[in-house]
Amino acid sequence: MTTTIEPEAPPRAAIVAQGVARSFGDVRAVDNATLTVQAGSVTALIGPNGCGKTTLMLMLAGLLRPNEGTISVGGNDPRTDAAAVRGSIGWMPDQLGSWDNLTCLQTLTLIGQAYRIPKAESRARGDALLARVHLEEFAQRPARVLSRGQKQRLSLARALMHDPEVLLLDEPANGLDPRSRIELRDLVRELAAEGRAVLISSHVLAELDEMVDDAIFMSKGRTLGDEASAMVAEAKTKYRIDALDRDLLISTLRGSSVPVEETPTGVVVRIDGDTNAAEALAWLVSKGVRVHRFGPVGSALEQTYMAMNEERR
Ligand SMILES: Nc1ncnc2c1ncn2[C@@H]1O[C@H](COP(=O)(O)OP(=O)(O)OP(=O)(O)O)[C@@H](O)[C@H]1O
Ligand SMILES: [Mg+2]
Repeated sequence: MTTTIEPEAPPRAAIVAQGVARSFGDVRAVDNATLTVQAGSVTALIGPNGCGKTTLMLMLAGLLRPNEGTISVGGNDPRTDAAAVRGSIGWMPDQLGSWDNLTCLQTLTLIGQAYRIPKAESRARGDALLARVHLEEFAQRPARVLSRGQKQRLSLARALMHDPEVLLLDEPANGLDPRSRIELRDLVRELAAEGRAVLISSHVLAELDEMVDDAIFMSKGRTLGDEASAMVAEAKTKYRIDALDRDLLISTLRGSSVPVEETPTGVVVRIDGDTNAAEALAWLVSKGVRVHRFGPVGSALEQTYMAMNEERR
């Protein structure tokens, strides 16, 4: 009997941007952006207000022309194949108006038809998507009665109507309540597991930490490449430990080769990788230290963000 082992599919870049720039008058909103987003993965786009995230996403969506640089989305160039790009991406803007007098289902059906999906199929997809974003009870109600967070969810359903392979989500969690945020996180992971590429901007970094495979940091219109990746990797090596007897914890750690830092919120050590963390914990316990807390220090993305140059425009 022979067994064939399916080779793992190599990563496929769904979005590639190289040296992209865009000015508005004398404001250089995006100065030099370079990024790659793989199919089947979630990438965060992170940076302070005014650093150019929305401008960059508009260019990736083919809604704004870059002054410089090259972009490829699903293998197409938004400048020359705008229709193909629009067909392959779902765009969720940071603020979306709704047609107040249409019901939620009518809204989605109309969007489907705009993508040339037949009416009956559009309705069926609309129904399924309303269930997916937990708005089924609003299917027959006008969009104007939706709360802000519900409008955000309708906006996400709109972005998914034509089953796009790339999703650009600009602050999708804005205005969502805690349950909806958790559901959004799970939905975004599901969408990536279906093979889609997701680029998501958000200012809630702790939330992104649990959702994303990769992160792109922006500052003053520029993407920070390897420099930011190194900072994220470094932030991931910090662990916070606490024990019932903190003095014993500290003296035990000081007797080892691990660098120890005492902070107001506990003892912080640097450990590289899960295996070393597991070994360090087992070693502490074997030394009689009664550890009650042992885990990475907060959010790696948040630490990286704070370590970036302080900037406001
Ligand atoms: N249409 C426009 N005309 C003139 N300036 C613009 C325009 N759009 C954006 N800008 C400027 O470009 C810069 C980048 O704006 P952008 O909206 O891309 O930032 P952002 O990173 O999305 O910020 P935020 O986190 O607040 O959403 C800002 O200085 C902004 O004032
Ligand atoms: Mg923005």
